Amino acid sequence: MLGRVNHLAIAVPDLAAATAVYRDTLGAAVSQPLALPEHGVTVVFVELPNTKIELMEPLGETSAISAFLEKNPSGGMHHVCYEVEDIVAARDRLVGSGARVLGAGEAKIGAHGKPVLFLHPKDFFGTLIELEQI
Ligand code: CO
Repeated sequence: MLGRVNHLAIAVPDLAAATAVYRDTLGAAVSQPLALPEHGVTVVFVELPNTKIELMEPLGETSAISAFLEKNPSGGMHHVCYEVEDIVAARDRLVGSGARVLGAGEAKIGAHGKPVLFLHPKDFFGTLIELEQI
C-alpha cells in the first residue's frame, strides 16, 4: 500500500529563521512560504534530490501544531508523509484493521493540492503519519 516517502515535516517556531538556516547554513533550495489556513500552518518546502522537507509554523489561534511546539519549543520532527495510489482504499483498509484516522476521517486537500489523511501516532509507534494520494 505504501509508496515513496513524499516528505518529512518539521515544526518550527519561526519559519523565516528556519528558512534562513536551511538556505544559508545547509545550502538547500527553499520555496516561498505557503499559508494553509485549513491545516493551521504556513509551510515552506526544502527541495532535496530524493525527497522534500516541509518546515511548518503555526497559523492562527487554533493551529494543530501549537501544542506540539509547546512541548518542543525549539521545534522537532512532526510527521512522515508516505505516498499511496488510492487514499480511499488506504483509509478503508486502515480503519478495517483498527487504525485511527484523525479528524472526520475524510481526505483533505494538502499542501501539494493532493488529498491527504493523518493517522493517529499512538497506532504507529509514536509517529504521526500523513498519507498523500499521488
Ligand atoms: Co505534510
